[in-house]
Amino acid sequence: MAPEWVREFGRQLPDEVVQVWPDVGDRDAVEFVICWNFDVHQLATFPNLRGVLVAGAGVDHLQPLDVIPDVPIVRLVDPAVASDIANYCVHWIVHFHRSLDRYQMQQPARTWDRHPYRSAAETTVGIAGIGSIGRVIANRAASAGYRTIGWSRNKSQIDGVETFAGEDLPAFLSLCDMVVNVLPSTPETHELFDATTLAAMKDTAVLINVGRGETIDESALRAALDAGTLHHAVLDVQQHEPLPNDSPLWSQKRLTLTPHISGFTFPATAVGLMAANIARIRNGEDPFPTVDRTVGY
Ligand code: OXD
Repeated sequence: MAPEWVREFGRQLPDEVVQVWPDVGDRDAVEFVICWNFDVHQLATFPNLRGVLVAGAGVDHLQPLDVIPDVPIVRLVDPAVASDIANYCVHWIVHFHRSLDRYQMQQPARTWDRHPYRSAAETTVGIAGIGSIGRVIANRAASAGYRTIGWSRNKSQIDGVETFAGEDLPAFLSLCDMVVNVLPSTPETHELFDATTLAAMKDTAVLINVGRGETIDESALRAALDAGTLHHAVLDVQQHEPLPNDSPLWSQKRLTLTPHISGFTFPATAVGLMAANIARIRNGEDPFPTVDRTVGY
């Protein structure tokens, strides 16, 4: 664990004893495990465990969930991080909506041409995955003036945002000029964006992925970009991270890659949220947001 995390725990929870893996002298004393990318089988070796606090929003790296003792598994959804992710998405939405990709390409050719402009209200942004982070992105896109719609596995409501669910995915996608994918990686979402799903999108559409790389069939995505049945994709997450040097994604035309940076976790705010959840568990209250083991996130 990085020293700044240990410092923050010392500052915000001065009465707690913090042991840093793998230097755990007294396993009986451990009540809470804070982890990321951890061997979940180890969790059963703490007999007095009361909660697992994940240092991120996703839990796909903590598998299988069913070997984790029956204590709350608490995700980290930091409003500051969600806000950064929303800003990242709005940056790309505006970039493509305002044809900034085309203007960038015109500059080396000294071309001073304007392209037709459609208002934000006439541009549909779809958010696939309207959980805690997806909602912040949806609200940010809507307040930037975009017609915003959302899709989730089960029907869910957001004020001012038309929502779709389950089998309506192709209908939802067919309406979107930009799709922001925030879906977690679960058996159900594995390569949900395959050739069939991608074919439901407009040829002029842009796909922005800030969820998990596993939700996109990368070969089908490359084929759609090559065939021109999708205008552009921005992948902040990929199936294999760090992206291997020989990945064909590096040189794929009309694809923008960033190295999983849409939101950074800040130890100061993260530890504050964890401290509040530790206090809730100690007071017999429910921590949040917790993982639903039946759906896998
Ligand atoms: C997370 C992430 O899950 O960084 O928090 O992707």
